[in-house]
Amino acid sequence: MTELSSLPEDFVWGVATAAYQIEGAATEGGRGPSIWDTFSHTPGRVANGDTGDVACDHYHRWPEDLGLMKTLGVDAYRFSIAWPRVLPEGRGQVNEKGLAFYDRLTDALLEAGITPFPTLYHWDLPQALQDAGGWPARETAEHFADYAAVVAERLGDRITHWATLNEPLCSAWIGHLEGRMAPGLTDIAAAVPASYHLHLGHGLAVRALRAAIPDAQVGIVNNLTHCEPYSEREADVAAARRADGHTNRWWMDPIHGRGYPQDMIDVYGVDVPERPGDLETISAPLDWLGLNYYFRNVAADDPAGPVPHITQPELPGAHTTHMGWEVYPQGLVRTLRRMTEDYGARRIYVTENGSAYPDTVDADGQVHDPERVRYLEQHLAACARAVEEGVPLAGYFAWSLLDNFEWAYGYDKRFGLVHVDYATQRRTVKDSGRRFAELLAQHRGG
Ligand code: IFM
Repeated sequence: MTELSSLPEDFVWGVATAAYQIEGAATEGGRGPSIWDTFSHTPGRVANGDTGDVACDHYHRWPEDLGLMKTLGVDAYRFSIAWPRVLPEGRGQVNEKGLAFYDRLTDALLEAGITPFPTLYHWDLPQALQDAGGWPARETAEHFADYAAVVAERLGDRITHWATLNEPLCSAWIGHLEGRMAPGLTDIAAAVPASYHLHLGHGLAVRALRAAIPDAQVGIVNNLTHCEPYSEREADVAAARRADGHTNRWWMDPIHGRGYPQDMIDVYGVDVPERPGDLETISAPLDWLGLNYYFRNVAADDPAGPVPHITQPELPGAHTTHMGWEVYPQGLVRTLRRMTEDYGARRIYVTENGSAYPDTVDADGQVHDPERVRYLEQHLAACARAVEEGVPLAGYFAWSLLDNFEWAYGYDKRFGLVHVDYATQRRTVKDSGRRFAELLAQHRGG
């Protein structure tokens, strides 16, 4: 695939996962409960009543999973650290066994020549902190910074690349406004302060990481997208502007020192609980930006719907994945350009991109997933195009290394480059995994 030749020579090829989605061992090694344990164990919240109790059993099988990464030949591994494994109550007593788990993983990754890219928060807030108010409470941001300091102290001598938050949009909007994710609230008056304290926690954690690790390379991972109106109707044009505010500007403006978009504060009808000095903390300079890209947002006005009164109608003729998400690689180029042109990004990683399909192991013992192969090729080609158009793109992490617990969708939705048979925990590299390995080897001139 010659069009990938514009990717920089030192382009980082990685795979990504998250703790609650793969680790399992929910009550082992001193781990405390998180909001996702509570949510998944609440009847009706997750498809089929699935939970992350066992997931991919990565807590026990991580050496095998590391072996898979070596087989693929990746440069980097983006994983998340489970806050409730390190601090079972979210604050106070540190759980040595939890830290030791990530310590071993880090050493083994480095020995294999794979750069660790941990994320400190991928949605698994310790339940004890939820009980004390959760993200709508300011103290949670302070506890997050203390947790960051504990982890940095232990792993910072070997890890330089750190992400604070994964997709705070999902934590705030889906978890506190739409109720489809933990903690399952549907209250804009909780969602807005939650978003603010996630940002504040991010800024405080950046400070903690830099204090402990002089050469830290710190970033944040957002799921941004390209928004456009469903029709030329004025109401749909305004809806697309709200979609952009809700999805992009609310998450990018504050960390770039621009404050919170007033048009969205007006839409939400809730002000941010700002204190003097906060915005400076929130906009602490970063070394890189992470983009998780899956689909575009074609927005139509929905005056009767919940805030921010937008709906995304089905698009006739669109190719969709098993999630019902439209395959639209041009949106990746546009979003990367937006980050560069409007926000002055100097280094960007695509920290997640991938597709779910209902894969099965065939009679030949292989998993043939041509749609995912195509998706991967199209989105990598989009990355190359973005580089040609001046985007400082430094790497791409496929979501995901393994099929895993897809949140409220449970185990039905498979995003892995590697198939997992949940009954036996057998791993099978899919055709897409082999294709990814081939593309990265070709890019290196192998
Ligand atoms: O599985 C999730 C991941 O945890 C966050 N980004 C989107 C993925 C697919 O939905």
